Amino acid sequence: MKIQFDETNMLAGVAGERNGISRSEIAKNEKRALDALASFQKQSGAKEQGFPHLPFQTATIQDINAYAESVRGSYDTVCLIGIGGSALGAWALDCGIRGPHPVQGAFSAGHPRLVILDNVDPAFTSAALASMNPRKTLVVVVAKSGSTAETVSSFLIVRDWLRQALKAKAFGRIAAVTSADHGDLLELAKRENYKTFYLPGNVGGRFSVLSAVGLLPAALIGIDIRKLTRGAAAMTHLAWQPDLTVNIALRAALCHWLLWTTRNKTIQVAFPYSNHLWGTAFWFRQLWAESLGKAKNRAGNVVNTGQTPVAALGTTDQHSQVQLYIEGPNDKVFTFWAVEKFGDVGRIPKEKLNLPAFDSLAGQSLAKLIDAERRATAAAMIDAGRPNCTFTLQKVDEDHLGGFLQLMEFQTAFIGELLDINAFDQEGVELGKKLTFGLMGRKGYGEYRAQFEAYEKKRAAAQSDRSA
Ligand code: PA5
Repeated sequence: MKIQFDETNMLAGVAGERNGISRSEIAKNEKRALDALASFQKQSGAKEQGFPHLPFQTATIQDINAYAESVRGSYDTVCLIGIGGSALGAWALDCGIRGPHPVQGAFSAGHPRLVILDNVDPAFTSAALASMNPRKTLVVVVAKSGSTAETVSSFLIVRDWLRQALKAKAFGRIAAVTSADHGDLLELAKRENYKTFYLPGNVGGRFSVLSAVGLLPAALIGIDIRKLTRGAAAMTHLAWQPDLTVNIALRAALCHWLLWTTRNKTIQVAFPYSNHLWGTAFWFRQLWAESLGKAKNRAGNVVNTGQTPVAALGTTDQHSQVQLYIEGPNDKVFTFWAVEKFGDVGRIPKEKLNLPAFDSLAGQSLAKLIDAERRATAAAMIDAGRPNCTFTLQKVDEDHLGGFLQLMEFQTAFIGELLDINAFDQEGVELGKKLTFGLMGRKGYGEYRAQFEAYEKKRAAAQSDRSA
Protein backbone atom coordinates (compact mmCIF):
# COMPACT_ATOMS: atom_id res chain seq x y z
CA MET A 1 0.00 0.00 0.00
CA LYS A 2 1.36 3.40 -0.94
CA ILE A 3 -0.37 6.60 0.20
CA GLN A 4 1.51 9.89 0.32
CA PHE A 5 0.81 13.31 1.77
CA ASP A 6 2.30 16.44 0.21
CA GLU A 7 1.89 19.64 2.25
CA THR A 8 4.24 21.78 0.12
CA ASN A 9 1.39 24.01 -1.13
CA MET A 10 0.39 24.76 2.46
CA LEU A 11 3.78 26.34 3.12
CA ALA A 12 4.40 30.09 3.30
CA GLY A 13 7.21 29.71 0.76
CA VAL A 14 4.60 28.67 -1.83
CA ALA A 15 1.23 30.02 -0.64
CA GLY A 16 2.63 33.26 0.86
CA GLU A 17 3.07 34.37 4.48
CA ARG A 18 -0.58 35.30 5.06
CA ASN A 19 -2.00 32.03 3.78
CA GLY A 20 0.74 29.51 4.33
CA ILE A 21 2.47 28.07 7.38
CA SER A 22 6.22 28.12 7.88
CA ARG A 23 8.53 25.16 8.41
CA SER A 24 9.50 26.73 11.73
CA GLU A 25 5.86 26.81 12.88
CA ILE A 26 5.62 23.11 12.05
CA ALA A 27 8.88 22.39 13.92
CA LYS A 28 7.77 24.51 16.89
CA ASN A 29 4.56 22.51 17.20
CA GLU A 30 6.07 19.08 16.64
CA LYS A 31 6.07 18.32 20.36
CA ARG A 32 2.42 19.32 20.59
CA ALA A 33 1.62 16.89 17.77
CA LEU A 34 3.57 14.10 19.48
CA ASP A 35 1.68 14.83 22.71
CA ALA A 36 -1.59 14.56 20.76
CA LEU A 37 -0.45 11.19 19.43
CA ALA A 38 0.51 9.98 22.92
CA SER A 39 -2.78 11.18 24.39
CA PHE A 40 -4.82 9.39 21.73
CA GLN A 41 -2.64 6.30 22.02
CA LYS A 42 -3.45 6.21 25.71
CA GLN A 43 -7.20 6.36 25.00
CA SER A 44 -6.88 3.63 22.40
CA GLY A 45 -4.71 1.50 24.70
CA ALA A 46 -7.29 1.86 27.48
CA LYS A 47 -9.94 0.77 24.92
CA GLU A 48 -11.80 4.06 25.37
CA GLN A 49 -11.63 4.44 21.60
CA GLY A 50 -12.00 1.38 19.45
CA PHE A 51 -11.51 2.27 15.77
CA PRO A 52 -7.72 1.65 15.78
CA HIS A 53 -8.40 -1.96 16.82
CA LEU A 54 -10.98 -2.75 14.14
CA PRO A 55 -8.56 -3.92 11.42
CA PHE A 56 -7.24 -6.56 13.81
CA GLN A 57 -10.62 -8.13 14.69
CA THR A 58 -10.00 -11.34 12.80
CA ALA A 59 -12.87 -13.26 14.43
CA THR A 60 -15.43 -10.65 13.31
CA ILE A 61 -13.97 -10.61 9.81
CA GLN A 62 -14.18 -14.43 9.68
CA ASP A 63 -17.80 -14.43 10.92
CA ILE A 64 -18.81 -11.87 8.32
CA ASN A 65 -17.13 -13.80 5.52
CA ALA A 66 -18.69 -17.07 6.69
CA TYR A 67 -22.16 -15.52 6.72
CA ALA A 68 -21.61 -13.88 3.31
CA GLU A 69 -20.51 -17.24 1.94
CA SER A 70 -23.59 -18.99 3.37
CA VAL A 71 -26.05 -16.62 1.64
CA ARG A 72 -24.11 -15.94 -1.57
CA GLY A 73 -26.11 -16.44 -4.76
CA SER A 74 -29.48 -16.13 -3.02
CA TYR A 75 -29.96 -12.41 -3.71
CA ASP A 76 -29.28 -9.85 -6.42
CA THR A 77 -29.80 -6.84 -4.13
CA VAL A 78 -28.56 -5.91 -0.70
CA CYS A 79 -30.90 -3.37 0.89
CA LEU A 80 -29.05 -1.48 3.59
CA ILE A 81 -31.15 0.48 6.05
CA GLY A 82 -29.20 2.90 8.21
CA ILE A 83 -28.20 6.56 8.27
CA GLY A 84 -25.14 8.73 8.97
CA GLY A 85 -22.25 6.61 10.19
CA SER A 86 -24.43 3.54 9.70
CA ALA A 87 -24.69 4.08 5.92
CA LEU A 88 -21.95 6.36 4.59
CA GLY A 89 -19.11 3.86 5.08
CA ALA A 90 -20.87 1.21 3.02
CA TRP A 91 -21.48 3.74 0.26
CA ALA A 92 -17.82 4.80 0.31
CA LEU A 93 -16.72 1.16 0.01
CA ASP A 94 -19.18 0.28 -2.75
CA CYS A 95 -18.38 3.39 -4.78
CA GLY A 96 -14.63 3.05 -4.12
CA ILE A 97 -14.25 -0.56 -5.18
CA ARG A 98 -17.08 -1.10 -7.68
CA GLY A 99 -17.41 2.44 -9.02
CA PRO A 100 -20.23 4.97 -8.86
CA HIS A 101 -23.70 3.45 -9.30
CA PRO A 102 -24.58 4.40 -12.87
CA VAL A 103 -21.52 2.58 -14.20
CA GLN A 104 -21.49 -0.53 -12.02
CA GLY A 105 -22.77 -2.77 -14.80
CA ALA A 106 -25.68 -5.20 -14.86
CA PHE A 107 -26.62 -6.58 -11.46
CA SER A 108 -27.12 -10.27 -10.81
CA ALA A 109 -26.78 -12.80 -8.02
CA GLY A 110 -23.06 -12.87 -8.78
CA HIS A 111 -22.85 -9.07 -8.78
CA PRO A 112 -25.51 -7.77 -6.39
CA ARG A 113 -26.41 -4.11 -6.20
CA LEU A 114 -26.45 -2.13 -2.98
CA VAL A 115 -29.56 -0.05 -2.31
CA ILE A 116 -29.09 2.27 0.66
CA LEU A 117 -32.23 3.50 2.38
CA ASP A 118 -30.89 6.29 4.55
CA ASN A 119 -33.23 9.17 3.90
CA VAL A 120 -36.93 8.95 4.64
CA ASP A 121 -38.09 10.68 1.49
CA PRO A 122 -41.28 8.65 0.83
CA ALA A 123 -40.97 8.97 -2.95
CA PHE A 124 -37.42 7.60 -2.83
CA THR A 125 -38.42 4.74 -0.54
CA SER A 126 -41.33 3.62 -2.69
CA ALA A 127 -39.22 3.87 -5.87
CA ALA A 128 -36.54 1.76 -4.17
CA LEU A 129 -39.08 -0.88 -3.11
CA ALA A 130 -40.53 -0.98 -6.61
CA SER A 131 -37.04 -1.61 -8.00
CA MET A 132 -36.31 -4.60 -5.71
CA ASN A 133 -37.64 -8.15 -5.74
CA PRO A 134 -38.29 -9.30 -2.13
CA ARG A 135 -37.39 -12.87 -3.10
CA LYS A 136 -33.97 -11.72 -4.27
CA THR A 137 -33.23 -9.10 -1.62
CA LEU A 138 -31.13 -9.46 1.49
CA VAL A 139 -31.88 -6.80 4.10
CA VAL A 140 -29.19 -5.37 6.39
CA VAL A 141 -30.43 -3.02 9.10
CA VAL A 142 -27.78 -1.00 10.93
CA ALA A 143 -28.24 1.18 14.00
CA LYS A 144 -25.84 1.48 16.89
CA SER A 145 -28.50 3.04 19.12
CA GLY A 146 -31.17 0.71 17.79
CA SER A 147 -33.70 3.53 17.82
CA THR A 148 -32.90 6.09 15.10
CA ALA A 149 -36.25 7.28 13.75
CA GLU A 150 -35.28 7.14 10.07
CA THR A 151 -33.82 3.64 10.31
CA VAL A 152 -36.62 2.24 12.43
CA SER A 153 -39.38 3.56 10.16
CA SER A 154 -37.74 2.45 6.90
CA PHE A 155 -37.02 -0.93 8.44
CA LEU A 156 -40.65 -1.39 9.51
CA ILE A 157 -41.71 -0.71 5.93
CA VAL A 158 -39.14 -3.09 4.42
CA ARG A 159 -39.79 -5.80 7.03
CA ASP A 160 -43.48 -5.67 6.18
CA TRP A 161 -42.72 -5.76 2.43
CA LEU A 162 -40.54 -8.83 2.95
CA ARG A 163 -43.12 -10.58 5.13
CA GLN A 164 -45.90 -10.08 2.60
CA ALA A 165 -43.82 -11.89 0.00
CA LEU A 166 -41.93 -14.46 2.07
CA LYS A 167 -44.21 -15.07 5.06
CA ALA A 168 -42.39 -17.05 7.75
CA LYS A 169 -39.14 -17.08 5.80
CA ALA A 170 -38.80 -13.28 5.85
CA PHE A 171 -36.78 -13.03 9.05
CA GLY A 172 -34.14 -15.36 7.64
CA ARG A 173 -33.45 -12.69 5.01
CA ILE A 174 -32.60 -9.99 7.54
CA ALA A 175 -29.23 -9.28 9.16
CA ALA A 176 -28.87 -6.65 11.87
CA VAL A 177 -25.83 -4.70 13.05
CA THR A 178 -26.29 -3.02 16.42
CA SER A 179 -24.91 -2.69 19.96
CA ALA A 180 -24.44 -5.95 21.86
CA ASP A 181 -26.02 -4.80 25.09
CA HIS A 182 -28.86 -2.37 24.48
CA GLY A 183 -31.45 -1.00 22.12
CA ASP A 184 -34.81 -1.88 20.63
CA LEU A 185 -33.27 -3.20 17.41
CA LEU A 186 -31.30 -5.72 19.47
CA GLU A 187 -34.53 -6.81 21.18
CA LEU A 188 -36.35 -7.24 17.88
CA ALA A 189 -33.40 -9.07 16.32
CA LYS A 190 -33.46 -11.55 19.21
CA ARG A 191 -37.22 -11.92 19.11
CA GLU A 192 -37.31 -12.55 15.36
CA ASN A 193 -34.02 -14.40 15.22
CA TYR A 194 -32.16 -12.22 12.71
CA LYS A 195 -28.54 -12.97 11.98
CA THR A 196 -26.88 -10.32 14.17
CA PHE A 197 -23.47 -8.67 14.23
CA TYR A 198 -22.31 -6.28 16.90
CA LEU A 199 -20.67 -2.88 16.86
CA PRO A 200 -18.22 -2.45 19.75
CA GLY A 201 -19.41 0.13 22.28
CA ASN A 202 -16.15 2.08 21.98
CA VAL A 203 -16.60 2.68 18.23
CA GLY A 204 -18.76 5.66 17.23
CA GLY A 205 -20.94 5.54 14.11
CA ARG A 206 -18.71 7.72 11.93
CA PHE A 207 -15.63 5.68 12.92
CA SER A 208 -17.35 2.33 12.28
CA VAL A 209 -16.71 1.68 8.58
CA LEU A 210 -14.24 -1.11 9.36
CA SER A 211 -16.56 -2.82 11.85
CA ALA A 212 -19.51 -5.00 10.79
CA VAL A 213 -21.30 -1.71 9.96
CA GLY A 214 -19.27 -1.31 6.76
CA LEU A 215 -17.70 -4.74 6.38
CA LEU A 216 -20.94 -6.75 6.35
CA PRO A 217 -22.55 -4.92 3.39
CA ALA A 218 -19.14 -4.83 1.70
CA ALA A 219 -18.66 -8.60 1.99
CA LEU A 220 -22.22 -9.19 0.80
CA ILE A 221 -21.57 -7.29 -2.43
CA GLY A 222 -18.32 -9.14 -3.04
CA ILE A 223 -15.67 -6.73 -1.72
CA ASP A 224 -12.59 -8.43 -0.27
CA ILE A 225 -12.79 -7.30 3.36
CA ARG A 226 -9.55 -9.07 4.31
CA LYS A 227 -7.66 -6.78 1.93
CA LEU A 228 -9.56 -3.74 3.19
CA THR A 229 -8.59 -4.47 6.78
CA ARG A 230 -5.05 -5.42 5.74
CA GLY A 231 -4.60 -1.92 4.25
CA ALA A 232 -6.14 -0.35 7.35
CA ALA A 233 -3.86 -2.40 9.63
CA ALA A 234 -0.78 -1.21 7.72
CA MET A 235 -1.97 2.39 8.09
CA THR A 236 -2.61 1.85 11.81
CA HIS A 237 1.01 0.79 12.35
CA LEU A 238 2.13 3.94 10.53
CA ALA A 239 -0.25 6.17 12.48
CA TRP A 240 1.29 5.13 15.80
CA GLN A 241 4.82 6.14 14.75
CA PRO A 242 6.09 9.12 16.78
CA ASP A 243 7.77 10.57 13.71
CA LEU A 244 6.22 13.26 11.53
CA THR A 245 8.20 12.22 8.47
CA VAL A 246 6.53 8.79 8.28
CA ASN A 247 3.29 9.35 10.19
CA ILE A 248 1.28 11.12 7.51
CA ALA A 249 -1.92 11.09 9.60
CA LEU A 250 -0.18 13.11 12.30
CA ARG A 251 1.65 15.41 9.87
CA ALA A 252 -1.55 16.15 7.95
CA ALA A 253 -3.39 16.78 11.22
CA LEU A 254 -0.73 19.21 12.38
CA CYS A 255 -0.60 21.13 9.08
CA HIS A 256 -4.39 21.36 8.87
CA TRP A 257 -4.67 22.41 12.50
CA LEU A 258 -2.06 25.15 12.02
CA LEU A 259 -3.63 26.52 8.86
CA TRP A 260 -7.10 26.39 10.33
CA THR A 261 -6.30 28.00 13.67
CA THR A 262 -3.55 30.47 12.68
CA ARG A 263 -4.57 31.42 9.11
CA ASN A 264 -8.31 31.20 9.69
CA LYS A 265 -9.07 28.59 7.04
CA THR A 266 -12.46 27.62 8.39
CA ILE A 267 -13.52 25.54 5.38
CA GLN A 268 -11.82 22.46 4.00
CA VAL A 269 -12.65 21.32 0.49
CA ALA A 270 -12.03 17.59 0.03
CA PHE A 271 -11.31 17.44 -3.69
CA PRO A 272 -10.98 13.87 -5.06
CA TYR A 273 -9.90 13.62 -8.69
CA SER A 274 -11.56 10.23 -8.94
CA ASN A 275 -15.23 9.29 -9.27
CA HIS A 276 -14.44 6.15 -7.27
CA LEU A 277 -13.52 8.33 -4.27
CA TRP A 278 -16.70 10.42 -4.44
CA GLY A 279 -18.51 8.28 -1.85
CA THR A 280 -15.45 8.55 0.40
CA ALA A 281 -15.64 12.35 0.17
CA PHE A 282 -19.18 12.24 1.56
CA TRP A 283 -18.11 9.80 4.27
CA PHE A 284 -15.23 12.20 5.13
CA ARG A 285 -17.62 15.18 5.33
CA GLN A 286 -19.54 13.50 8.13
CA LEU A 287 -16.38 12.35 9.91
CA TRP A 288 -14.87 15.85 9.91
CA ALA A 289 -18.07 17.79 10.64
CA GLU A 290 -19.47 15.68 13.48
CA SER A 291 -16.11 15.00 15.08
CA LEU A 292 -14.64 18.50 15.04
CA GLY A 293 -17.67 20.80 15.21
CA LYS A 294 -17.99 21.35 18.97
CA ALA A 295 -19.43 23.92 21.36
CA LYS A 296 -16.99 23.25 24.19
CA ASN A 297 -13.46 22.04 24.73
CA ARG A 298 -12.54 19.37 27.27
CA ALA A 299 -12.17 21.98 30.01
CA GLY A 300 -15.80 22.95 29.44
CA ASN A 301 -15.04 26.35 27.91
CA VAL A 302 -17.22 27.51 25.04
CA VAL A 303 -15.11 27.40 21.88
CA ASN A 304 -17.64 26.84 19.08
CA THR A 305 -14.95 25.31 16.97
CA GLY A 306 -15.18 23.48 13.65
CA GLN A 307 -13.94 23.47 10.08
CA THR A 308 -16.71 23.13 7.52
CA PRO A 309 -16.00 20.22 5.16
CA VAL A 310 -17.08 20.55 1.54
CA ALA A 311 -16.90 17.81 -1.09
CA ALA A 312 -15.92 18.77 -4.64
CA LEU A 313 -15.19 16.42 -7.54
CA GLY A 314 -12.29 16.98 -9.90
CA THR A 315 -12.41 17.77 -12.72
CA THR A 316 -16.21 18.23 -12.74
CA ASP A 317 -16.27 20.95 -10.08
CA GLN A 318 -13.55 22.97 -11.79
CA HIS A 319 -16.47 23.99 -14.01
CA SER A 320 -18.74 24.70 -11.06
CA GLN A 321 -16.88 25.71 -7.87
CA VAL A 322 -13.34 26.79 -8.73
CA GLN A 323 -14.33 30.33 -9.73
CA LEU A 324 -15.52 30.85 -6.15
CA TYR A 325 -12.54 29.01 -4.71
CA ILE A 326 -10.04 31.21 -6.53
CA GLU A 327 -11.70 34.62 -6.40
CA GLY A 328 -14.06 34.33 -3.43
CA PRO A 329 -13.25 34.61 0.30
CA ASN A 330 -9.81 33.23 1.14
CA ASP A 331 -11.15 31.10 4.00
CA LYS A 332 -10.51 27.62 2.60
CA VAL A 333 -7.87 24.96 2.43
CA PHE A 334 -8.10 22.49 -0.45
CA THR A 335 -7.20 18.85 0.00
CA PHE A 336 -6.73 17.12 -3.33
CA TRP A 337 -7.09 13.34 -3.41
CA ALA A 338 -5.07 12.08 -6.36
CA VAL A 339 -4.82 8.59 -7.85
CA GLU A 340 -1.58 7.49 -9.49
CA LYS A 341 -2.86 4.51 -11.46
CA PHE A 342 -6.41 4.14 -12.72
CA GLY A 343 -7.81 0.75 -13.77
CA ASP A 344 -7.61 1.95 -17.36
CA VAL A 345 -5.67 4.94 -18.70
CA GLY A 346 -8.49 5.96 -21.07
CA ARG A 347 -6.51 6.15 -24.29
CA ILE A 348 -7.70 8.99 -26.57
CA PRO A 349 -7.72 7.92 -30.25
CA LYS A 350 -4.82 9.20 -32.32
CA GLU A 351 -6.90 10.32 -35.27
CA LYS A 352 -6.04 13.87 -36.41
CA LEU A 353 -8.97 16.04 -37.48
CA ASN A 354 -7.02 19.16 -38.39
CA LEU A 355 -8.71 21.04 -35.53
CA PRO A 356 -6.31 22.37 -32.85
CA ALA A 357 -8.57 21.67 -29.80
CA PHE A 358 -9.04 18.06 -30.89
CA ASP A 359 -5.60 17.34 -32.35
CA SER A 360 -3.71 18.52 -29.26
CA LEU A 361 -5.39 15.78 -27.21
CA ALA A 362 -5.40 13.01 -29.83
CA GLY A 363 -3.19 10.06 -28.80
CA GLN A 364 -2.95 11.16 -25.17
CA SER A 365 -4.94 9.69 -22.25
CA LEU A 366 -7.66 10.65 -19.78
CA ALA A 367 -5.31 9.62 -16.95
CA LYS A 368 -2.77 12.19 -18.13
CA LEU A 369 -5.48 14.82 -18.59
CA ILE A 370 -7.06 14.39 -15.13
CA ASP A 371 -3.58 14.56 -13.58
CA ALA A 372 -2.69 17.69 -15.57
CA GLU A 373 -6.02 19.31 -14.61
CA ARG A 374 -5.43 18.67 -10.91
CA ARG A 375 -1.88 20.00 -10.98
CA ALA A 376 -2.98 23.02 -13.02
CA THR A 377 -5.78 23.75 -10.53
CA ALA A 378 -3.34 23.51 -7.61
CA ALA A 379 -1.02 25.95 -9.39
CA ALA A 380 -3.87 28.36 -10.16
CA MET A 381 -4.88 28.24 -6.51
CA ILE A 382 -1.36 29.09 -5.42
CA ASP A 383 -1.35 31.98 -7.90
CA ALA A 384 -4.35 33.33 -5.94
CA GLY A 385 -2.74 32.57 -2.53
CA ARG A 386 -5.04 29.62 -1.80
CA PRO A 387 -3.25 26.93 0.26
CA ASN A 388 -3.73 23.32 -0.71
CA CYS A 389 -2.30 19.87 -0.11
CA THR A 390 -2.52 16.46 -1.75
CA PHE A 391 -3.04 12.88 -0.64
CA THR A 392 -1.96 10.49 -3.39
CA LEU A 393 -3.20 6.90 -3.49
CA GLN A 394 -1.20 4.63 -5.74
CA LYS A 395 -4.54 3.11 -6.83
CA VAL A 396 -8.08 2.66 -5.55
CA ASP A 397 -8.26 -0.98 -4.49
CA GLU A 398 -9.23 -2.62 -1.19
CA ASP A 399 -5.79 -2.20 0.41
CA HIS A 400 -5.53 1.48 -0.45
CA LEU A 401 -9.12 2.33 0.38
CA GLY A 402 -8.88 0.58 3.77
CA GLY A 403 -5.63 2.43 4.43
CA PHE A 404 -7.07 5.77 3.36
CA LEU A 405 -10.21 5.46 5.52
CA GLN A 406 -8.09 4.59 8.53
CA LEU A 407 -5.73 7.49 7.73
CA MET A 408 -8.66 9.94 7.69
CA GLU A 409 -9.94 8.60 11.02
CA PHE A 410 -6.54 8.93 12.70
CA GLN A 411 -6.10 12.41 11.27
CA THR A 412 -9.48 13.40 12.73
CA ALA A 413 -8.66 11.91 16.14
CA PHE A 414 -5.30 13.73 16.21
CA ILE A 415 -6.85 17.10 15.32
CA GLY A 416 -9.41 16.50 18.06
CA GLU A 417 -6.49 16.14 20.48
CA LEU A 418 -4.77 19.27 19.14
CA LEU A 419 -8.00 21.21 19.62
CA ASP A 420 -8.48 19.58 23.04
CA ILE A 421 -12.07 18.61 22.24
CA ASN A 422 -13.95 15.33 22.43
CA ALA A 423 -14.05 14.26 18.77
CA PHE A 424 -16.18 11.24 19.57
CA ASP A 425 -19.47 12.64 20.85
CA GLN A 426 -22.26 14.42 18.94
CA GLU A 427 -24.30 16.33 21.47
CA GLY A 428 -25.28 18.85 18.81
CA VAL A 429 -27.52 16.41 16.94
CA GLU A 430 -29.26 15.03 20.00
CA LEU A 431 -31.81 17.81 20.53
CA GLY A 432 -33.13 17.56 16.95
CA LYS A 433 -33.56 13.80 17.41
CA LYS A 434 -35.43 14.26 20.68
CA LEU A 435 -37.69 16.97 19.26
CA THR A 436 -38.52 14.60 16.38
CA PHE A 437 -39.41 11.85 18.85
CA GLY A 438 -41.62 14.38 20.67
CA LEU A 439 -43.34 15.37 17.41
CA MET A 440 -43.88 11.74 16.44
CA GLY A 441 -45.50 11.05 19.82
CA ARG A 442 -42.86 8.73 21.33
CA LYS A 443 -43.54 7.86 24.96
CA GLY A 444 -41.30 9.73 27.41
CA TYR A 445 -40.61 12.62 25.02
CA GLY A 446 -43.53 14.89 26.03
CA GLU A 447 -41.18 17.60 27.33
CA TYR A 448 -39.60 17.85 23.87
CA ARG A 449 -43.01 18.19 22.27
CA ALA A 450 -43.67 21.03 24.72
CA GLN A 451 -40.32 22.60 23.83
CA PHE A 452 -41.24 22.42 20.14
CA GLU A 453 -44.60 24.01 20.81
CA ALA A 454 -42.89 26.89 22.65
CA TYR A 455 -40.69 27.39 19.58
CA GLU A 456 -43.77 27.44 17.35
CA LYS A 457 -45.36 30.08 19.58
CA LYS A 458 -42.25 32.23 19.21
CA ARG A 459 -42.51 31.90 15.42
CA ALA A 460 -46.19 32.78 15.46
CA ALA A 461 -45.47 35.89 17.56
CA ALA A 462 -42.75 37.00 15.13
CA GLN A 463 -45.10 36.44 12.18
CA SER A 464 -47.87 38.49 13.79
CA ASP A 465 -45.32 41.28 14.50
CA ARG A 466 -44.55 41.35 10.78
CA SER A 467 -48.24 41.52 9.81
CA ALA A 468 -48.95 44.33 12.36
O1 PA5 B 1 -21.47 9.20 13.93
C1 PA5 B 1 -22.50 9.00 14.52
O2 PA5 B 1 -22.52 8.51 15.67
C2 PA5 B 1 -23.85 9.30 13.90
O3 PA5 B 1 -23.77 9.89 12.67
C3 PA5 B 1 -24.67 8.01 13.77
O4 PA5 B 1 -23.98 7.12 12.94
C4 PA5 B 1 -26.06 8.27 13.20
O5 PA5 B 1 -26.73 9.23 13.95
C5 PA5 B 1 -26.88 6.98 13.17
O6 PA5 B 1 -26.96 6.42 14.46
P1 PA5 B 1 -27.44 4.94 14.67
O7 PA5 B 1 -26.41 4.03 14.16
O8 PA5 B 1 -27.63 4.81 16.15
O9 PA5 B 1 -28.74 4.79 13.93
